[in-house]
Amino acid sequence: MDSILVRPHFHPHIALIQLNRPKELNALNLQLMAQLRDALRQLDADDAVRAIVIAGNERAFAAGADIKEMANKSAIDMFLIDQFSTWDQIRKTKKPIIAAVSGFALGGGCELAMTCDMIIASETAVFGQPEIKLGIMPGAGGTQRLTRAIGKVKAMEMVLTGKYLTAREAEQSGLVNKVVPVELYLDEAIQLASDIAAMSPVAVRLAKESVNLAYDSLLNEGLHFERKNFYLCFASQDQLEGMAAFIEKRQPQFKGK
Ligand code: CAA
Repeated sequence: MDSILVRPHFHPHIALIQLNRPKELNALNLQLMAQLRDALRQLDADDAVRAIVIAGNERAFAAGADIKEMANKSAIDMFLIDQFSTWDQIRKTKKPIIAAVSGFALGGGCELAMTCDMIIASETAVFGQPEIKLGIMPGAGGTQRLTRAIGKVKAMEMVLTGKYLTAREAEQSGLVNKVVPVELYLDEAIQLASDIAAMSPVAVRLAKESVNLAYDSLLNEGLHFERKNFYLCFASQDQLEGMAAFIEKRQPQFKGK
């Protein structure tokens, strides 16, 4: 089964990408992220497409990177696989991308939403970086983008405790553009995409690039630093314990080594 469903002409000038691993709550494995990168590259080259919406399903946008895929990896495995280089390519998409988030947006799921240019959330959405409970830390931009979006103290609390934000809290904190009832979140995202699609595609492209420059100064350095520390977590016994505990559905016993 394809890990994503791509509908390039879902709406006039609007493409829709749906994450499609519902049983795993759209956990972002390597295959899904590679398919997402390839789809975005194709849509970016399609003149009929002016904006892109990425959605999950009502229960989950995405519950994070795939823990089962990473559980037994060493720090060197992680460094060599370098899964986040795919995310670097996704960031190069020139057309605007809107995340339509319902349900869980956790770990890599929250990071993927933040990698998009705007976020529309359903009232049921929850945002979080719960990696700390697995004996690791965010690795796909969470420590950098969340801190910029909601400020240091709130980001610190979320990253160090794994606590979630509700959709309303995320809206109040400036993490999401708008919160709407669950039955409307996709329509609202399509509407926002359509508003953008009515503008000059050239001006939109140049404007996105410019906003990103304001936002991305120092981001590259921060992302690189975070990534190295994320991979380093896989040298610890606590990472093995944290991920095994998740898979075995029990509480982890962290030892600090
Ligand atoms: N990776 C792999 N599988 C996952 C997953 C993930 N991130 N999240 C959920 N699943 C799987 C579960 O293992 C379960 O599979 P089985 O039916 O085979 O047991 C299935 O999806 C349904 O999940 P639950 O039974 O756990 O559903 P729930 O409603 O009880 O709980 C949840 C939902 C709170 C989201 C819980 O699944 C959860 O805590 N998931 C993990 C969240 C997380 O820690 N994310 C961070 C991952 S690491 C990361 O993302 C690193 C990074 O920075 C990129």
